[in-house]
Amino acid sequence: MDIHALGYLRLEATDLDTWERFLRDGLDTEVVRDGDSELRVRIDERPARLVVTASDVDRLAAVGWEASGLRALARVTAALEGAGVEVRGAAPEELADRRVEALVHVCDPGGSALEIYAGPALDHRPLAPRAGTRFVAGDLGFGHVVLPQPEMDAAMAFYEGILGFQHRDSMRLPGMGPDGSDAWIRFLGCNPRHHSLALFEGPVPSGIVHLMLEVDDLDAVGRGLDRCRDLEVPISASLGRHTNDHMVSFYVGTPGGFDVEYGTGGRLVDPATWVATEITAVSYWGHRWGSAG
Ligand SMILES: [Fe+2]
Repeated sequence: MDIHALGYLRLEATDLDTWERFLRDGLDTEVVRDGDSELRVRIDERPARLVVTASDVDRLAAVGWEASGLRALARVTAALEGAGVEVRGAAPEELADRRVEALVHVCDPGGSALEIYAGPALDHRPLAPRAGTRFVAGDLGFGHVVLPQPEMDAAMAFYEGILGFQHRDSMRLPGMGPDGSDAWIRFLGCNPRHHSLALFEGPVPSGIVHLMLEVDDLDAVGRGLDRCRDLEVPISASLGRHTNDHMVSFYVGTPGGFDVEYGTGGRLVDPATWVATEITAVSYWGHRWGSAG
């Protein structure tokens, strides 16, 4: 697949101090702060998986999708332009800021800003000493993101039809669509991770439902849960195991009002033999929303 991984998220935030504490002391990521303007979060050799920029709103600013190389990015760009989607090139300062060789800007049908890039410069320095959490990221990307898409058909035509994502499965939301029809959550992959992207059929003011970070074992999840409790960060959903990606995870509220899912054990699938299905429960067990975890 020409787009092969979720690369990074850019977020805007009204309270950088609380975000910094949450990301460093709660999630155990390396956070580099640039004065009062920006936080850059590293969990592996990619330069920054999350960039949180000071703003007067809390919202998703952009999703970075990594193409497998310059030719792959050129093919994706041609497919977008061929479908009549407006594609804008990046300024040299943006390439330097993102530390990538090439990048294009595009907007998805739900209004999310995407940055599709190739050639990320790696940062080989060891991660700054933290509590020792090891993240599962690298070439598979760092996890997944769930985006609101009020027009699901248009969103699937864009992500599946133009960008080449594979539809992995769907979850029906009975009666939650327009005029009482069923709405859907659709899960899409671009590598063996079960999903790197999920589309939620409905509006969300912040532009993001949740983002997911994967760590390497259950103890790291449990320690993360303890740290978030110690910080008195609200636990949105208790520990549980999802039916589709098999992730064992909990959900915690970010200072931006949306959630981070923090989990382990996500399964890898074979795109060549995958059959898209409908799941009828979110979790085998757990993920009790509104409980204290
Ligand atoms: Fe998730």
